[in-house]
Amino acid sequence: MNPQKKVILITGASSGIGLTCAEYLSSRGNLVYGIGRNPDFKTTEFTYYPVDVRNEPAVQSLVSQILEKEKRIDVLINNAGIHVAGAIEHIDHQRVLELFDCNFFGYLNMIRSILPGMKKRKSGLLICISSIAGVTGLPFQGIYCASKFALEGLCESLRMETHHSGVHVVLVEPGDFKTAITQNRTIDPLTVKDPFYAGNFETTMKKVTLDESTGANAIDIARLIENIMCMRRPGVRYTAGHKMQRVVPFLKRIVPSAFFEFIIRKNYYS
Ligand SMILES: NC(=O)c1ccc[n+]([C@@H]2O[C@H](COP(=O)([O-])OP(=O)(O)OC[C@H]3O[C@@H](n4cnc5c(N)ncnc54)[C@H](OP(=O)(O)O)[C@@H]3O)[C@@H](O)[C@H]2O)c1
Repeated sequence: MNPQKKVILITGASSGIGLTCAEYLSSRGNLVYGIGRNPDFKTTEFTYYPVDVRNEPAVQSLVSQILEKEKRIDVLINNAGIHVAGAIEHIDHQRVLELFDCNFFGYLNMIRSILPGMKKRKSGLLICISSIAGVTGLPFQGIYCASKFALEGLCESLRMETHHSGVHVVLVEPGDFKTAITQNRTIDPLTVKDPFYAGNFETTMKKVTLDESTGANAIDIARLIENIMCMRRPGVRYTAGHKMQRVVPFLKRIVPSAFFEFIIRKNYYS
């Protein structure tokens, strides 16, 4: 095999950012495996398996299968994620568990299944797709933000634990991208009906939908990941998306917290 050619496993490869990354990285000569839940998804551009990231035995069995065939997984792109919008007060507890099951425990499952092999080979790259929502709280996205904040903490810790192991851990923080996340999002029905939240919720969701429909193209993330794959010592985190959104983490660091909160609120409520 061409030594430049990487064996890459991408979660959430049936749609959006994951699909674009899978197609692009495959077109660049890498050997790409992708997973998603959809059993009907078909592609000739990479090898797809219908595997749910929440299903630990299924994930482990797939990883063993790939390792047996390819002898290594060079890069994991941990990307499969879901979104729920609504007031923290109202979102059904089962929904909260489902979201964490995918956005946090799914990522954890993938890392735990792949890390031992990478450590053994003293080489590997674990890329986790977080979000700007992993750096700042956002109104009516609190549960989603919490899952991405948890992911950020996990990856920061993992970087320290695996220091000098040859395995690199990187967070990618996209702003708004035009993907199926808009249609796949669950909207909490109680928030819509609650007169205290309804007005701000409606304006917020209109803004979120507009920002996503005019969002950046997932190819930017695919190219960013290709660049990260070429780095000898990649950094902790990379933002992606429109400039105005990429500046948010920096802004949060430099402006007083109450003013930062005001800017975010204004952005969604007016
Ligand atoms: N689009 C944005 O604006 C944006 C911004 C910041 C961060 N992100 C993050 O980017 C990642 C990808 O989102 P996207 O925008 O590409 O959304 P998307 O188009 O809805 O794609 C989500 C992908 O995740 C897969 N998935 C969901 N649950 C899964 C599970 N339990 N097991 C395996 N696969 C699962 C879906 O496939 P199946 O339905 O086939 O399972 C699909 O392939 C997410 O982590 C999201 O939080 C997106």
